[in-house]
Amino acid sequence: MVRIHHFILSLKRRDYNAQYYDHLCHDFLLLKDLIEVCSCFDYDRKMNFYPQFKNMAFQLDPERAHECSLKILERFPGIFHLFPYRKREAYKYSLNRSGLNWPFPVGLAAGLDKDARAISFFENIGMGSIEVGTVTLLPQEGNPRPRMWRYPQETSLRNSMGFPNQGSQIILERIKKSKHQINLGVNIGKNKQTSKEQTSKEYAKLYSLFAPYADYLTINISSPNTPGLRDFQQGDLLKEILQEVQKERERFRTPLLLKIAPDLDETQVKQLIKTSQDFQLNGVIATNTTRISEYGEGGISGSLLYNKARDIRNLCLNETKDNPDFSIVGVGGFENFEQILDFWKNGGAFVQVYTAFIYQGPQLLVDIEKKIDSLLLKSRCSSLEELLSNKKLLQKL
Ligand SMILES: Cc1cc2nc3c(=O)[nH]c(=O)nc-3n(C[C@H](O)[C@H](O)[C@H](O)COP(=O)(O)O)c2cc1C
Repeated sequence: MVRIHHFILSLKRRDYNAQYYDHLCHDFLLLKDLIEVCSCFDYDRKMNFYPQFKNMAFQLDPERAHECSLKILERFPGIFHLFPYRKREAYKYSLNRSGLNWPFPVGLAAGLDKDARAISFFENIGMGSIEVGTVTLLPQEGNPRPRMWRYPQETSLRNSMGFPNQGSQIILERIKKSKHQINLGVNIGKNKQTSKEQTSKEYAKLYSLFAPYADYLTINISSPNTPGLRDFQQGDLLKEILQEVQKERERFRTPLLLKIAPDLDETQVKQLIKTSQDFQLNGVIATNTTRISEYGEGGISGSLLYNKARDIRNLCLNETKDNPDFSIVGVGGFENFEQILDFWKNGGAFVQVYTAFIYQGPQLLVDIEKKIDSLLLKSRCSSLEELLSNKKLLQKL
């Protein structure tokens, strides 16, 4: 422990701007033996390396920091030992509804591990699920850089990535080889060059490729960074996609969700929910990033998105309150337990995070877990599932 402490102090003194990845790899090689020693013990982990890690990463351009971090997570799979985790009694936190079964109510949102390179890391820090992607049929570069910006004061991010990813074949092979137990979602999207006419076939193809290996799939038609993509949220275009995918859903029964934008009016949301229910989707993920013109191109996530996303989620929850087979997966601006509790009080269950995870790291999950424990104690419920099913009790908390 003392060695690790000294090591962390030495990291603080480095200038990571110059040769960030080389430096980090060298440092992590030094750490490797310590990680291995730590891995011999099966105990609750209290160590939190994230503040130091973030300190280094935030000295760099956001996308470069992201790439380097993923490389490190891929190259040093044992690194999760440096982040906090508490052993869990599975029954206590698991949620099971509309075909989704997560051991913990908070999962990782799409876009952070687009190419499915760090599944085991996210599993080992206690994410309830991980959604990889957006995956497109063919590999693509995405939009020109820079395309990711931080707003630390507002604990927000902005991105105009445009689905850079290694493409369905490589990602599929990686998923097949991965020995994960975690609940795995695959978020699918169209290639930039694909015509409107071909789009529905492309989604159907992607669904059939990943359905045998995923716990659920998400149709992404809500990214603001692929020209024309959000048009597919409108009536007939969405129906075309869902009709085409439906044929494959008869072969594979893998649950299917639709991810929607926060920049929709009430009528549009109601229409989307109706269409999703007509096609017996398992639910909707609300929401993707939002456009705020003062900030520039791309989509905003984090605190700046919260109110808008919350209003859309509440509308969705209200529209679907009589359909227990349809889930609203909440995402967009969640950064503390109180916001999650508010979502639960309104009828929600599963939550995803992205931006808050960048700002808070794995401690976010531990904090949420502790707050759930307190709530269970206070309400004298033995599990989260029991608590969420008791609406009256939940409202009083
Ligand atoms: C850099 C970045 C890339 C993203 N890429 C994707 C993506 O490929 N597919 C997708 O469905 N959502 C993507 N998202 C959106 C997130 O999944 C999430 O919906 C959004 O960030 C709101 O959640 P948050 O406020 O917790 O970040 C991305 C978000 C960020 C910040």
